Parts: sequence; C-alpha cells; structure tokens
Amino acid sequence: MRPSFIFATLITILFFLSLIKSIKSVQEEEQYQNDQESDRVFILPGQPKGPSLSHFSGYITVNRENGRALFYWFFEAQTEPFKRPLLLWLNGGPGCSSIGYGAAVELGPLRVKRYGTELEFNRYAWNKEANLLFLESPVGVGFSYTNTSSDLDKLEDGFVAEDAYSFLLNWLRRFPQYQAHDFYISGESYAGHYVPQLAELVYDRNKDRKNYPYINLKGFIVGNPETNDYYDSKGLLEYAWSHTVVSDRVYRLVNRVCDFRLLNWTNECNNAMNMVFDQYKVIDIYNIYAPKCNLDQVSSSTYETDAKMQSSSLRRLRIYSGYDPCFSNYAEEYLNKPDVQKSLHAHVGGKNNGRWQVCNDSILNTYNFTVSSVLSIYSKLVKAGLRIWLYSGDTDGRVPVIGTRYCVEALGLPLKSQWQPWYHNNQCRLVGGLWSTKG
Ligand SMILES: *[C@@H]1O[C@H](CO)[C@@H](O)[C@H](O)[C@H]1NC(C)=O
Ligand SMILES: *[C@@H]1O[C@H](CO)[C@@H](O)[C@H](O)[C@H]1NC(C)=O
Ligand SMILES: *[C@@H]1O[C@H](CO)[C@@H](O)[C@H](O)[C@H]1NC(C)=O
Ligand SMILES: *[C@@H]1O[C@H](CO)[C@@H](O)[C@H](O)[C@H]1NC(C)=O
Repeated sequence: MRPSFIFATLITILFFLSLIKSIKSVQEEEQYQNDQESDRVFILPGQPKGPSLSHFSGYITVNRENGRALFYWFFEAQTEPFKRPLLLWLNGGPGCSSIGYGAAVELGPLRVKRYGTELEFNRYAWNKEANLLFLESPVGVGFSYTNTSSDLDKLEDGFVAEDAYSFLLNWLRRFPQYQAHDFYISGESYAGHYVPQLAELVYDRNKDRKNYPYINLKGFIVGNPETNDYYDSKGLLEYAWSHTVVSDRVYRLVNRVCDFRLLNWTNECNNAMNMVFDQYKVIDIYNIYAPKCNLDQVSSSTYETDAKMQSSSLRRLRIYSGYDPCFSNYAEEYLNKPDVQKSLHAHVGGKNNGRWQVCNDSILNTYNFTVSSVLSIYSKLVKAGLRIWLYSGDTDGRVPVIGTRYCVEALGLPLKSQWQPWYHNNQCRLVGGLWSTKG
C-alpha cells in the first residue's frame, strides 16, 4: 500500500471517530438539555399573575452508589440572565432548608403568604441581580434524600461540602449555559461554615484541571455567619447583655463559669447558658425586635432541642442557627400540598409519604460538629484574591454582629477604607450600619 493511501484511510477513520464522538456528546448534551426542560416549573398553585419568572426545580444525583440526591430550586435572573452571575444560596441549621427559608421567606422572588395558601411576588428578590440557585443541603434536609440511611449518621462539614461540590458539577452539566458565568456562593447562619468550606473545595479543585472541571468561582457572601465558636459564643452573650435581654447577674455568672474556648462546655456553663436562652423564649432570638410568632401549631423545635441538650451533659448547647419558626409554618403548610410538590417535581424522603419540614431536628441532633472555626479559610481565600462580603444584621441574637466583628478583627487584615456609616435613601437619621473594605 502506498503511504498516501494509508494516510488517507487514517484520516477517514479519524474523521469517523471524531464524528461518532461528537454525535455522542451532542446526544449527551441533548439529554442534559432535556433534563433541564423537564425540571422547568410552570405555574405554581397560588402563584401571582405577574411578573413572569423562569424557574426550574428537581433533583441532582450527588452519589450514585448510595443513592444520594439533592433538591434545588433555580430562578433565572428577571432580566438578561445570560449576562448575570450565578449565585448559590444555602441556609444553616444544620438541618434547615434553603427552600423553606431562603427561597420561600427571604430572598426568593416567590414568597409564601400568610396561612400558606398563596404566593406573593417579592420585590426585593435577589434574582433581580443574579441567577439564583437554592439548594437543600445536606441529604435529610427538606426534599433532599439518601437511599442509604447510614449516610445520615455521617453528616459533618466535610461530607456536606463534598456533596454540595458534586451537586454543582452535575447541576452545571444540566444547565451548561451557566458554566462560564461568574459564580458566587452565599448563605447565612450555620452556612457560615458551608459557604467558605465549599468555596475552598472549589478553589482547590480548580487547580487540578486534569481531574476536575473548572468552576468560575469569584467569591462568596455570608450573612450573620457562624464563623468561630469562641467569638460567636462570646458575641452571643455580650449581645444578650448589651441589648438587656439578660441581667447583669446572669452575664457575670456566665462569664465566671464558661470558657468558650473549650470544645465541650461544662455542666455549669450549660446551665448558665440555659438562663440566657431562657430569656429568649419570650422573644424571637433571630430578630429580637420582631413580634414573636404566636401560632398554635408552632413546633418550637428550637426550644425542645434546647431542653434535650440541657439533659445531655457535657455537650455544647445547640440551637438552630436558622430563622424565626413562624414564617416556616406558612412555608410548611404550602410545601406539603401535594399539588405544590407535584409542580416542583419534589417528593419527601425519596418516598411520597412523610412530611416536608423546614428544619429537621434529627439532623441537628446527630450532626458531628467537627470544625470550630473557619477563619483560616478566610485568610487563604482572601490571599487567593476571591471577593468576600460579610454582612451582619444587628437584630439577630443567635449569630450576632458583635461576634462577627470579633471575627473580622481576628483576621488582622489592613483597612483599605475606614469604617463608615451607610444610610438608607440618604436619610441622615436612618443609619443603616457600618461598612469598610479590607484585604
Ligand atoms: C433511590 O431509590 C429509588 C427507589 O429505588 C430510586 O427510584 C431512586 O432513583 C434512587 N435515588 C438515587 C439518587 O439513586
Ligand atoms: C465532648 O462531648 C462529646 C459528647 O458527650 C464526647 O463524645 C466527646 O468525647 C467530648 N469531647 C471532648 C474533647 O471532651
Ligand atoms: C430527618 O433526618 C433524619 C436523619 O437524621 C431522617 O431519617 C429523616 O428522614 C429526615 N426527615 C425528613 C422529613 O426527611
Ligand atoms: C466526628 O468526626 C470526627 C472527625 O472527623 C471523627 O473522628 C469522629 O469519629 C466523628 N464522630 C462521630 C460520632 O461520627
């Protein structure tokens, strides 16, 4: 055979091989596009007529062997979604749902109205600025599930971050049009752990292009974030005292018997801290100036958990770093409606029985708290040039702004601009708060 013939044959074979390959990837792509379209949400029960929204929800498998799938709800930006960044939102707990809080009562465009029968448009929705992705994480929260129940005994920060990372990779395959967008991670309360931890995992794996697809991470945003146990506990106590939630006597007692640097609090400290939490029973710890929810059906899971913890000695008191339980009643009412679940392509616990809960107590109780501070991640990612935005509202007694200030100070970053007040609508009597940039 002549070399030119061999060459031509080879080229032909190569051509067909690449054709087969491209047909295969086109098919794959079509499959992902189909999955995307079948996740589209049309009109939800009780949805207001306008404005029109483009949204999707469903499951992403994060672990095939054990059958773990996480539930998401995604809202495209209200205008020019192709230009805007992609923002992932996570709530805390651990065990609380980003659908029940983030999407349905906080920053999503469709909020559940009183009594949970209807939705209303939220004019402060964050999808005015970004493509907004809510994730129920980890498995066992909300509609997210695992087919291997022993997974639920293994929940800790590392596990949560790994599953969230797998979620991201697989979600971006289903929504490839967002692969190149600037990507930010955000969340509040206990997601003060999840957010920087996931950002770190993405950052590290982005350096290993051979083994991991690149995610265009630009930074993260955290609100009233649990960041460092010592500073957060100290902040919680000082906030309660400075806002006259507790008496001088209780404040002095806690200061005498508690060493917040210990991983496990002593019995004496637990008892003293219970006096602090007792005072919060009559007001809403997540918003001390808000009227307290007085609905009959309030599960008050927060304080039941509190009491449970009181009896188990030598364990740190754990109460949700979540939000006010009153809103969640409406969300629970709404999200347990069969027609709502059907429209959202959701089911509870992998089966159709069971109730959707805004926070899952058993996750809070079995969660393995392995990390007491995420400050070192901040140092690392600041150095790496990621953009980080910390904000903290001063009505939250659970993860108060005082602790956040200690945490920011502990980072020891030089100021780029002095702390200065910001105002709402330029009204000089309405000081919104203080801000500055560091790095
Ligand atoms: C979990 O099990 C159910 C029932 O066998 C199955 O339909 C589902 O696909 C499984 N989930 C995952 C993520 O593998
Ligand atoms: C803290 O308490 C837990 C639960 O009682 C126990 O398993 C753990 O060993 C304790 N850790 C330390 C450092 O004492
Ligand atoms: C809550 O979490 C537990 C495991 O900690 C799990 O067995 C249970 O199914 C979850 N509840 C719901 C409603 O998903
Ligand atoms: C919690 O996590 C730590 C660190 O990963 C591990 O050593 C410990 O065995 C875990 N505890 C439980 C109860 O799973």
